[in-house]
Amino acid sequence: MKDWINVALPKGRLGEKAYGMLKNSGYECPAIEDPGRKLIFENPEKMVRYFWVKPSDVAIYVERGAADLGIVGKDILLEYEPEVYELLDLKMGKCRMAVAGKKDFRDPVGQTLKVATKFPNITRNFYAGKCRDIDIIHLNGSIELAPILGLSHVIVDIVETGTTLRENDLAVHEEIVPISARLIANVASYQFKDAQINAIRESLQKQVEET
Ligand code: PRP
Repeated sequence: MKDWINVALPKGRLGEKAYGMLKNSGYECPAIEDPGRKLIFENPEKMVRYFWVKPSDVAIYVERGAADLGIVGKDILLEYEPEVYELLDLKMGKCRMAVAGKKDFRDPVGQTLKVATKFPNITRNFYAGKCRDIDIIHLNGSIELAPILGLSHVIVDIVETGTTLRENDLAVHEEIVPISARLIANVASYQFKDAQINAIRESLQKQVEET
């Protein structure tokens, strides 16, 4: 018997691309293709339900079982460490987590390093691995301003094209980890809807390999 599959998609280009792949896997939902402000869409024939959520919230919906599957950046998984299964690297939405700062920045050895970031957990783990004493300044956006205004020595942030750094006279000093989008599953759903979820995973994997 087929169960409903609930999928949390990250609002934006990445989510639209991921929906395209799910559609190719036989889980189309024409209603989602109409522009509008609706957040939830279902196709009763295919028994699939999609919802658009803020990218950083996808893992919460999946971890708590409001969604069986989700598409989420590896940065979110590393930052929040949700209890979900990571099923597949979709090899899209590629970027990197990096330490960046002013071009002429030199680590002030002997002083606590001030680091501004939206990713305090990733930052803490990275510097703990280097036994470097840091002071985390948790910001919610426009992180690049911090070293320019002297709020921090460096930032830990996502670098995609590098344009934001370049246009603000900043540069990457260290790479922390490459990032890409992942397919994740709720732990209980993966047990009870394993056949459907594995069929989706395999179809997506085939599409990833073909690109
Ligand atoms: C992200 C990130 C960088 C920028 C990197 O910010 O925090 O600022 O994108 O992309 P680039 O290397 O292609 O320039 P986002 O657009 O999410 O906005 P934010 O300032 O709210 O973090």
